[in-house]
Amino acid sequence: MTQLAETTDIKASAASLTDKFGFGRDVRREISKRLQSCLTDWIAIALQLKQAHWNLVGPQFRAVHEQLDEIEADVRLNADELAERIVTLGESADGRPDTVAGDNHVEALPLGRLDVGECVEALVSNIGKVVGNAREVLPKLGEEDPISEDVLIAALRNLEKHDWMLRSLIGI
Ligand SMILES: [Fe+2]
Repeated sequence: MTQLAETTDIKASAASLTDKFGFGRDVRREISKRLQSCLTDWIAIALQLKQAHWNLVGPQFRAVHEQLDEIEADVRLNADELAERIVTLGESADGRPDTVAGDNHVEALPLGRLDVGECVEALVSNIGKVVGNAREVLPKLGEEDPISEDVLIAALRNLEKHDWMLRSLIGI
């Protein structure tokens, strides 16, 4: 296929997506940027949940160790949904380690073994930051594309529920 033919195909495909979604490439890029900023947060918090799952020490270890794995599984599932919505819109999702490391709202946990109470407190604080960013993104996303908004709402619904369960452990 010649370069000219490829360019024509890309343009045709972009035009057909515009017909399909009812908004153009510029809007799809904006929506994808908003989803992308949540995607890196969801990947980062999933990684942090595993770090906590492995290094916990103290009372309630077994219960919290297992609870963190349950949260991580939900968070990863929602990260996948966010990424796939971006790709559905004709853009590309960026889950590369360097991108995630350079673009997230999650503060690092201390290295080493983690006291259960302190660890849960740090996770609640970080989930709060992730939720805060997503809730800032949400209204604009709703104006642009209710389906993308719905994907983010589903992710937030899960994360806020897990946040409640973690807060309950430490009485906040
Ligand atoms: Fe495990």
